[in-house]
Amino acid sequence: MACKVVVVGSYNQDHVWQVDRFPQPGETRRGGGFRTGPGGKGFNQAIACVRQDVTTAFVGARGHDALGDGAAALAEAEGLTGCWQVREDVPTGTAAILVEASGQNQIIVDLAANERLDPDFLCTQSALFADARVLLAQLENNLDATRTALQLGGEHELIRVLNPAPVHPDLDADLLGLADVLTPNESEFAQLCARFLDTEVATDDVATLDDERLHALCRQLCGGSVVVTLGRHGSFVSHGDARRGDEAACYRVAAETVKAIDTTGAGDAFCGALVAGLADERVTRFADAVRHAGRVAALSTERAGAATAMPRRDEVVARFG
Ligand code: RIB
Ligand code: NA
Repeated sequence: MACKVVVVGSYNQDHVWQVDRFPQPGETRRGGGFRTGPGGKGFNQAIACVRQDVTTAFVGARGHDALGDGAAALAEAEGLTGCWQVREDVPTGTAAILVEASGQNQIIVDLAANERLDPDFLCTQSALFADARVLLAQLENNLDATRTALQLGGEHELIRVLNPAPVHPDLDADLLGLADVLTPNESEFAQLCARFLDTEVATDDVATLDDERLHALCRQLCGGSVVVTLGRHGSFVSHGDARRGDEAACYRVAAETVKAIDTTGAGDAFCGALVAGLADERVTRFADAVRHAGRVAALSTERAGAATAMPRRDEVVARFG
């Protein structure tokens, strides 16, 4: 089926424990409320997107195991046009997640099959790109696969959105340059500034930098648009494509007030909903896509879990209008 959005990314099986506070090094703490569920930044984003009523394809790699079978079944049940590379040599990706009473989380990922997604496999799936409008990728695969995804997106003239999460140790400026839109959170933004601009900004200070300074840093990071997600501070948008000679503009979008219990996957909710907006011809203004994305992200934090916490379009409209 022709899809408007192609997400190339990761699937992980999340293993989640609830804790009152994170343990210190060497400390053993009691946790509770153990649960396991679907996750992985790519998969979470694809679910967030398809739940906004935009046709979505997910391309990723999984192991030849029970977790991978579960992932494939879930993708189908959610209406994703699935396309998995099934690896015999590595298991499906897994994640260990601690969620604190405050709703904050800490995550360890064993990317396994995700890191073996084969660039050549992506090329065999290029038909998926033909009728799409937007490509979305993250950094939980190997960089060659991500690069190939962005290149295929470029060849098919898609809007290429890169969520630079988590910042890959070997990420290079050329790869960033292949994106039309970058969507770092505060921590990723600080890491990108340190790595590529030789500029030290503390993660906690990103949200309160003045607009002019943030805008200037965004312009230097990537030729395209940058949307920095700022948690309860909403998001900062530096919009315009220098490569097309656009005049760049910047603005902030406030966050909605919600009762967050689990922020796992909130950034993924944002990215998936943003690309849904960019692919939807009824959404004509970039700012409207960003506003809707912020609402989807906010609502996702009121529910436990990652992929399964993604709100549907009608729920978002019912809550925020
Ligand atoms: O962004 C949240 C996700 O990060 C989790 O679902 C986990 O699998 C890791 O990929
Ligand atoms: Na959540």
